[in-house]
Amino acid sequence: MLRAQILGLGSYVPERIVTNDELRFLDDKHERRDTIQTETNDEWIRARTGIEQRRYVDNDGKTTCSDLGLRAAQAALADANLTAKDIDCIIFATLSPDIHFPGSAVFLQSKLKVDGEEGCAAYDIRQQCSGFIYGMQMADAFVRAGIYKKILLVGAELHSHSLDFSTRGRDVMVLFGDGAGAAVIGATDSEDPRSGILYTHCQADGSGAMDLYLKVFEIGHVPYVWYDANNRDENQIKYPQMNGKKVFLNAVRNMVVSTQRALKETGLTWDDINWFVPHQANLRINEAVVQYAEIPASKVLNTIQLYGNTTAATVPLTIDHHRKAGTVKKGDLILSTVFGAGFTWGSAIFRV
Ligand code: ACO
Repeated sequence: MLRAQILGLGSYVPERIVTNDELRFLDDKHERRDTIQTETNDEWIRARTGIEQRRYVDNDGKTTCSDLGLRAAQAALADANLTAKDIDCIIFATLSPDIHFPGSAVFLQSKLKVDGEEGCAAYDIRQQCSGFIYGMQMADAFVRAGIYKKILLVGAELHSHSLDFSTRGRDVMVLFGDGAGAAVIGATDSEDPRSGILYTHCQADGSGAMDLYLKVFEIGHVPYVWYDANNRDENQIKYPQMNGKKVFLNAVRNMVVSTQRALKETGLTWDDINWFVPHQANLRINEAVVQYAEIPASKVLNTIQLYGNTTAATVPLTIDHHRKAGTVKKGDLILSTVFGAGFTWGSAIFRV
């Protein structure tokens, strides 16, 4: 019986570390000024979100989202002892694509030097913080249906260029960081129901679509891109907008239900599972999920303190971070639950 399994994992974060203290002095070009640019502080950010620092790409105009994805993809391919030529499908999850279209998967394919007439299939998916688990569900289905044999699943985000570095944008700006994670998912012939990817489930509730969004343009208007960079009240279309409290409550509720459903539908208990890897949006969200879903605290892996919210990248980045630290071992069983803009959410259970 064809089953999908994770053959390799990799991640990448830019070198530049931006602490909470530094953040308030940054202007919109990410240069440090002598005076405070955003009224925020380390105490507020730590207490409300758990975030201590995040990574930003250099602001030299040379790095795009697919560049971050490339670094993670190369690490995942090396981990799987494969090359890009072995891949027959790319699935790229991001909310910060290189340009509006085409999607970032084809740019990644070219950067991996496997484009051309024999180039593999390339998908972009748009499920924000839930992108990696939605992508895993797609990859699992493709592999089990025999459509593709080796899939490169990438979650990558370049947030730092689209944040509002001012007091007006502080509720969102302090949360996000740049980073990428990737997995190579391949076919194996196995009758063992506890091998590879055991379970995926994804959901969405479009009634929350405008509680967390970034417009950039409105295709229903002419001109469809419009802003006045000198008028801060008129240019909000460039920046993410969030109803933080509503996102928080929906995240906790749906992540708890999704996690409990994953256990119920697989018949597994926390004794069977090595690690719980929640999406990294806010440490307080994850602490509430752990409390209400009665998850053993010793099995929970977080990295938001170090990287902030890297949206589609948080799950592979967190697993890879803890793998490198020696916490996560080969063959460990992971239950991952995510929640993101849309609203979208889901859970997966898989061996690494
Ligand atoms: N620094 C200092 N003060 C701030 C900041 C900041 N960065 N941001 C907001 N404040 C102020 C507010 O202006 C407000 O001031 P006021 O009382 O004078 O009006 C005060 O702090 C409290 O603001 P709240 O919005 O009530 O703060 P809350 O406790 O709700 O925390 C937060 C805000 C952290 C954004 C929280 O709502 C949250 O984490 N929500 C979920 C966000 C999230 O997970 N987003 C990602 C989702 S996943 C995806 O797909 C992208």
